[in-house]
Formats: sequence, structure tokens, C-alpha cells
Amino acid sequence: MASPSLSVVLLLCLAAAASAVLSPPTFYNTSCTQALAIIKTGVAAAIATDRSMGASLLRLHFHDCFVQGCDASVLLDATVPNSERSALGNAGSLRGFDVIEKIKADVEAACKKKGNSRAVVSCADILAVAARDSVVALGGPAWDVQLGRRDSDTANVALANQDLPPPFMDVAGLIKSFGDKGFTMTDMVALSGAHTIGRAQCKNFRSRLYGEDNIDSDYATKLRANCPQTSGDGNLAQLDDTPTTMTADNFDNSYFVNLQLKKGLLHSDQVLFNGTGGTNNTVNNFASNPPAFSSAFASAMVTMGNLSPLTGSQGQIRRICSKPN
Ligand code: HEM
Ligand SMILES: *[C@@H]1O[C@H](CO)[C@@H](O)[C@H](O)[C@H]1NC(C)=O
Ligand SMILES: *[C@@H]1O[C@H](CO)[C@@H](O)[C@H](O)[C@H]1NC(C)=O
Ligand SMILES: *[C@@H]1O[C@H](CO)[C@@H](O)[C@H](O)[C@H]1NC(C)=O
Repeated sequence: MASPSLSVVLLLCLAAAASAVLSPPTFYNTSCTQALAIIKTGVAAAIATDRSMGASLLRLHFHDCFVQGCDASVLLDATVPNSERSALGNAGSLRGFDVIEKIKADVEAACKKKGNSRAVVSCADILAVAARDSVVALGGPAWDVQLGRRDSDTANVALANQDLPPPFMDVAGLIKSFGDKGFTMTDMVALSGAHTIGRAQCKNFRSRLYGEDNIDSDYATKLRANCPQTSGDGNLAQLDDTPTTMTADNFDNSYFVNLQLKKGLLHSDQVLFNGTGGTNNTVNNFASNPPAFSSAFASAMVTMGNLSPLTGSQGQIRRICSKPN
């Protein structure tokens, strides 16, 4: 009977590994009392200097969690094999690495025991908390961030290219991409609402701008001025059309109102309100009911933050976020 019981044990181990559970937000209360306060202060300082940084920090967490789970793999730099920084959706686009690295240094300076080289707070946790604090700082909803993630010692650029959804995706592809990670269609639409803040480069919406007709004509005219058909690949436009720069980077539900007005910037935005896939109703609900969007977004962010974390003795706590120990 040795072999059946061995496979039972093996199964239990696999089940435990697959459902590694995070700890409550009090995880660092004794090991690093100030951790959450230091992260919040660091995010606030970065946003005070440059309001557009909040969006970038939120996106970093998304691009971390979608590639082998929330393990800070996205932060490993180009000196690390298979660095995700060169992935299609990341290269020349992700930013905020220095902000996270500075927060990490501040947290470790406050909490690392003298004479002990062991770091205390994982980069993956810092990223998850910084994403939440960014959304809150820009006026969006709050949620409790579970903690205890540990950091990977590897990155996977191939997986990043495979799992990060490109802006040219149709609604069925988006539902599948998010469904593969355990998200419902409603979660996917809510998470897309992150595009109520931040910017995109011309090359990522040019084919929509010059090839699609479900776009508001005044909006298209305005965009074309800074996104010519054959140049200006890196020119930026706000993901969420706003009348003035005063309202840019406010985390609200205007993204969904803009979809109703055919003012989605990316193809992958506007397809959420284009007749297929059954996402219209969710867009209408979030457009007319801000609290419904807030609570759906917060709950989907908790799910995102729980994507296959390393916990317990898995992985490591990196000393600096850009390199494995
Ligand atoms: C639904 C599928 C998604 C697609 C296809 C997509 C695609 C993109 C693209 C192409 C950009 C612009 C990048 C550039 O031009 O440099 C962008 C920006 C952004 N995305 Fe997404 N995204 C998706 C979902 C999400 C999710 C789930 C989140 C977070 C919860 C998110 C947060 C952001 C933010 C905040 C920005 C602005 C970044 C900045 O200004 O630095 N996106 N996204
Ligand atoms: C843990 O720390 C947080 C943040 O400093 C605080 O709000 C909370 O009351 C603490 N909880 C416990 C159980 O000590
Ligand atoms: C929206 O639907 C129309 C009509 O089915 C189609 O022609 C168009 O290509 C679609 N646009 C997008 C962005 O999916
Ligand atoms: C969704 O909304 C678009 C834009 O108004 C419309 O063309 C399409 O028919 C709607 N689809 C459904 C299933 O109601």
C-alpha cells in the first residue's frame, strides 16, 4: 500500500502548492511594523512629483501577476536570464521600477536586522501594496492586500509574451486570456477599467485610429493630430479621454462612459462595447453605477493579487528588486 499512499501525499502536496494561501495584511506587523506606512509614503511622494506614476505602478503589478503569478518576476532586470522587461507588452513601456526600488530600500533600511543580510519584505508584496495605494491616491477604491508573497529567482519572457493580452485582442480573446487566470467576464471588464488612468503609445492604437469606424469622429480627429499614420510611434495619449489635463489620472468610472461614447482608445477597450461577447451590459452597469464598478474592481484586484504566489519557504525575499539574491 506504499505507492497509493505516496501518491495521495503527492496529490495533497500539489494541491497545497497550487493553492498557496497568503496571510492577512498584519503579516509584517511584528517583523516590519512600518512597512505599509513606508510604502504608502513612497507612493504618495512619487505621485506628488509625477501624477502619471500611479498608473504605471498599477500596471507593473498586473504585468507581474499575469506572468507566473505575483512573484515580482517583472522587476528582474535585463542582466537576468529571460528578463520580462523585453517582452512585447513591456519593452519601452513599463515604468516605475526606480520608485519600487526606492521604496524597497527605505523599507529594508527601517526593518533589516543589523548584521543580518536577510531582507524582510518581499518585492512582490511591495508591488501589490503600491498598486493599491496608487489607486487610492488617485481617488479610486481601497481593498485589503493579503501579504506573504515571496519573490521568484527567475523570470520568463516567453510566458510574458504568451500571457499578457495585446491591445489588438477581440473580446473573445480577452475573455479567454482572463478566464485562463480564473477571472469571470465581469472581472475582466472591471479590470479593464484600470484604463481610467494612464497613457498609451500611438503604435498601440494607430490601427484603430485609421482603420475602425466605431470611434467618435471628434475624438479621432483629436488623436490623429498627435498620432500620424506613419510616424510618432511613441507619442502618448491618455487612455481615458478627459476634457482637461486637470481630470487626467483620476480613478473614476469615466472609462465606461467613454466606451458608450465610442471613445475607447485601444481596440481592446472599445470591443467591450461593440456588440459581441455579452460585455455591453457590464459596461452599462459600470457607467451608470460608480459604486458597482468600485466594488467589482476592488474584488478583482484581490483575485489578481492572489494569483499563484510563492509563500512559506518557496522563492526568496530579494535584497534588491531588480536581481535575485
Ligand atoms: C484587458 C486587457 C488589457 C490590455 C490589452 C491592455 C493593454 C494596455 C496597453 C497597450 C497599454 C499602453 C502601453 C503603452 O502604450 O506603452 C496599457 C496601459 C495601461 N494598462 Fe492596460 N491592458 C489591459 C488590462 C489592464 C489591466 C487588467 C490593468 C490593471 C488592473 C491595466 C492597467 C494599465 C494602466 C494603468 C496603463 C497605463 C500605464 C501608464 O500610463 O504607465 N491594464 N494597457
Ligand atoms: C497591524 O498594523 C496595521 C498598520 O500599521 C494596524 O492598522 C493594525 O491595527 C495592526 N494589527 C495588529 C493585529 O497588530
Ligand atoms: C465593432 O463591430 C462592428 C460591427 O460588427 C465591426 O465592423 C467593427 O470592426 C467592430 N469593431 C471592433 C473594434 O471590434
Ligand atoms: C452593444 O453596444 C453596441 C454599441 O452601442 C451595439 O452596436 C451592439 O449592438 C450592442 N450589443 C448588444 C448585444 O446589445
